[in-house]
Amino acid sequence: MLDTWLTRELGISVPLLGAPMGGRAGGRLAGEVTRAGGLGLIGAARYNTAEWIEGEVRTAREIGGGAVGFGLMTWALADDDSLLTAVLEHRPQLVTLSFGDPAPYIERVHEAGAVVLSQINTVDDLRVVEAAGVDAVIAQGHEAGGHTGRIGTLPLLQEVLESTSLPVLAAGGIATGRGLAAVLAAGGQGALVGTALLASPETVGPDYARGRLVEAGSADTVYTDVFDKARHQPWPARWGGRALRNAFTEEWHGRGADEDTLAAAYTGDDPDIGVVYAGEAAGLVRSERPAGEVIRGIAEQAETLLSRFR
Ligand SMILES: Cc1cc2nc3c(=O)[nH]c(=O)nc-3n(C[C@H](O)[C@H](O)[C@H](O)COP(=O)(O)O)c2cc1C
Repeated sequence: MLDTWLTRELGISVPLLGAPMGGRAGGRLAGEVTRAGGLGLIGAARYNTAEWIEGEVRTAREIGGGAVGFGLMTWALADDDSLLTAVLEHRPQLVTLSFGDPAPYIERVHEAGAVVLSQINTVDDLRVVEAAGVDAVIAQGHEAGGHTGRIGTLPLLQEVLESTSLPVLAAGGIATGRGLAAVLAAGGQGALVGTALLASPETVGPDYARGRLVEAGSADTVYTDVFDKARHQPWPARWGGRALRNAFTEEWHGRGADEDTLAAAYTGDDPDIGVVYAGEAAGLVRSERPAGEVIRGIAEQAETLLSRFR
């Protein structure tokens, strides 16, 4: 068994978190990750309601047996933090507050009994979330799917491990036991897995997303803001989103088109135009496998690899 700060803190058997993925990771996916021994996080997006959260929590708990986690985008709470209130009512075991300064919210999360982590993209971010009082940090690298920073996972992980006494996890490009073993051997306490789960039947989102991911190779992603602009998502400029390349990115990425132009050209119904956020680990996802199988496979391979050094 891989015994780390993360497994001890949460009472889980595998040092893996199912990444919070707005629009793709609901209660079914989170529940299956938890059932496989990790902890699955439900991705709470700005448009999700308290009713949606209640339904997803119920599903996650039915499948996973009780424990549940959530991931929220910190910058989106500034105008309206009712999503955080709705999440905390369900007494989750863990909440991630990523992309922004979580200081205004940490006390409430702790009072609700949850562990709080932040995904960070630089050492400057580390200093901000340390001062805010998070329990651990997640070094999220540029190769990650969805919104992320500009430093690769391995250099960022090393820099963060050298710079803090907090427990450190890694996110971005971890899709096999080799990746998890590397993180643990480096001194990390666990990893978030996102892209590796995105072809699983338990994900939500458009039907074409799973097939597109299986077809994609590791060079088939692009770090871009065109989908945020096309969908009127007011992400702060420092975070782009990594998605599969398609006809829309070929046409618009890097051209500086304004929001109205991009919105007029966009439709999520067309598989050649709709966004499929995914990371460079796309090349490691070769079939539509159940989430539990993916999680167990990563953990078993990491354990085998690390046992060589005992
Ligand atoms: C489709 C998708 C949606 C995401 N949505 C969120 C989100 O709502 N909140 C968040 O903190 N991170 C989000 N992320 C980032 C993930 O939490 C995580 O950092 C990333 O998936 C890890 O890299 P990997 O995809 O290479 O495993 C998203 C990622 C993807 C692929």
